[in-house]
Amino acid sequence: MKKLIPILSMMLAALAASAQIRIATPNTELILDGEVGGDLSFLYYGNILSDTDIESLTDAGVSWNDVYPTYGHWTNAEKALEVTHSDGNMSTCVKVESISTRQEPSATVTVIRMKDTSYPFYVNICYRAYNDVDMIETWTEIENQEKKPVRLTRFDSGSLAIRYGDVWLTHLTGSINNEGRLVQEPLQHGMKVLRNKDGVRNSHTEHSEVMFSLDGKPMEHSGQVIGAALCYSGNYELRIHTRERDYIEFYAGINPDNSAYTLEPKEIFTTPVLAFTYTDEGHGGASRNFHKWARRYKLANGTETRKILLNSWEGVGVHINEEVMDQMMGDIASMGGELFVMDDGWFGDKYPRNNDRQGLGDWVVDDTKLPNGIQGLIRNADKHGITFGLWIEPEMVNTVSELYEKHPDWVIKGLVHETLHGRGGTQLVLDLSNPEVQDFIFEIVDGIMTANPDLDYIKWDANMTVANHGSQYLPKDKQSHLFIEYHRGLINVCERIRAKYPKLTLQSCATGGGRATYGLMPYFDEFWVSDNSDALQRIHIQWGTSFFYPANAMAAHISAVPNWILDRRTSLKYRIDVAMSGRLGMEVQPKHMTEEEKDFCRKAIADYKMIRPVVQLGDLYRLVSPYEGYNMASLMYVAEDKSEAAFFWWKTELLWDEQIPRMKMAGLDPDKKYTVRELNRVDRDELKYEGKTFTGKFLMEHGLEMPSKHWVDSDLHRSDWTSRVLYLKAE
Ligand code: DGJ
Repeated sequence: MKKLIPILSMMLAALAASAQIRIATPNTELILDGEVGGDLSFLYYGNILSDTDIESLTDAGVSWNDVYPTYGHWTNAEKALEVTHSDGNMSTCVKVESISTRQEPSATVTVIRMKDTSYPFYVNICYRAYNDVDMIETWTEIENQEKKPVRLTRFDSGSLAIRYGDVWLTHLTGSINNEGRLVQEPLQHGMKVLRNKDGVRNSHTEHSEVMFSLDGKPMEHSGQVIGAALCYSGNYELRIHTRERDYIEFYAGINPDNSAYTLEPKEIFTTPVLAFTYTDEGHGGASRNFHKWARRYKLANGTETRKILLNSWEGVGVHINEEVMDQMMGDIASMGGELFVMDDGWFGDKYPRNNDRQGLGDWVVDDTKLPNGIQGLIRNADKHGITFGLWIEPEMVNTVSELYEKHPDWVIKGLVHETLHGRGGTQLVLDLSNPEVQDFIFEIVDGIMTANPDLDYIKWDANMTVANHGSQYLPKDKQSHLFIEYHRGLINVCERIRAKYPKLTLQSCATGGGRATYGLMPYFDEFWVSDNSDALQRIHIQWGTSFFYPANAMAAHISAVPNWILDRRTSLKYRIDVAMSGRLGMEVQPKHMTEEEKDFCRKAIADYKMIRPVVQLGDLYRLVSPYEGYNMASLMYVAEDKSEAAFFWWKTELLWDEQIPRMKMAGLDPDKKYTVRELNRVDRDELKYEGKTFTGKFLMEHGLEMPSKHWVDSDLHRSDWTSRVLYLKAE
């Protein structure tokens, strides 16, 4: 009987064919117009409307925009779906067949079932509206009930109509070692396309997340903003069409380039989720909505804080051995760290991983380097009172490996033409469309975990693009499925791993920040933001990334100087102050640090433990952008109950006699009294306001002065690389 109730309510809802379909979150709603037998159109997206306004909504002059336009009629316009039916006809015309809703523990799902007027061809347009965060997810289920296959040549997840005006687009671009660069531009007439074609990684360059500022140049604390994130790990395409109409059209979905999909009879093609949010609190409000949603629903173990770790890569590269690992573990433990991660270089038998030419695919311990295996390392970690993690790159293989010798048919390669290789001149991508390869990858993790149940963390890397189009598994007539099937295979593996190992911490890494994507976040606890660990550039990279991702997902490590990417020397304090604004870790060989430096890190790590909950789980307020030319950047995190906050301020360039703005804070309770304490102090004298108490109102309206120099002792003032971290605690 219990099971019948939701079914009955779905059926009743389906019968209630209303014109207005309201899809609501706590503060926002999307209103569609759709009657059974008719079209489905957008009416409104914004703050929840009053009944009075709802009644008069259409009289306010809204224009009807197709929610999911299909190719066939008005062929001059952009479409969300393009289909060649089994008889060769290229036009599709869908009308509402039914509208139903179902309850999930934290959301209401509305399904609008559309049917083609001439073919047994269906599209379910689905919306999940959360009841505790202002986020709506949309996706479609494209269903072929025709007798023969149909061919899909475009299959967007969804679209949105945005009123034309002074609309600005904010998005992230960049490159390897320069990820997450913030771009803000007014939308001009024409088509703006953001897309990816890597095949494996999708966030080094353009990101699949955007924000639209609806009332002019973007502002941080105010202004109407729609944010959108396509949650997909593979090739994507976002199109923004600004043309001679009152509405800008936004489409997002899998990139259809070289990916035409043959949908067999009875098969359903489910598109990835497109999540969107609305706020009138500017970019900051949209980011906080993304973060809250991510922590609660989109990030593995998202409501938990992360451990402070040392990763071996920048410290020792592939020069792994038991003694060095033990020394590094001892050092991080002595500084208060909680986890050690052994990076690349630990594996390979016939072809030991002594360089990047060989070994990928052979996930057996190199016992010349590690005679006591992973178990021995875990025992040593335990002895030091920390946990242990390791690096794998399971989707990849070197042609110089036992795996390749055994399974040359498992790789993606040129089927006719020469095969191009990646890193080390020998790297190839395994063909995840092949279920045997999926099993193999699951078994890598399962095997490691079964042999080492106490392993705490896995860094999952992916350093190659699909450079060759060619699956040895897919039939000739389905080669165009490769990009899509690869990611289905990857998700299948991730789901199996997560089902069996829900508490294992997984980091997604892909040549740095190539996999900062909501397509994978449900399976990964965090991502490596960039291989560029230079503190100054990290301010920019982390700033952009923070638009869409919360701090507990963003791995930020203190690294050595000169920096391995930029050769720049920054002060240790500066490097610590930047890393502490994300998920703090270290990326050094501690053996090369002085005792004074270790002491400084030890103190910082202890303080980070105090501010960790507010940094990793608090609300982010960005204060001054490094992109705005003030030669500084600042942000703060505030606890949800406003009882504490962590404030970060970094000088990004120092000029003589500069007038530095006084730092006004945000997000505090105006009536609460906060006591200010500086962390990571290097100055001889305390700040004047050290230990002093101010109201939240004062801190937000008047703020505090930031001295531009560090006066370390009476002779020496270190004026470059100035930064401050303040901890605010309410009485
Ligand atoms: C690329 C990653 O981004 C690095 O952090 C490191 O893990 C190397 N791969 C190891 O080969």
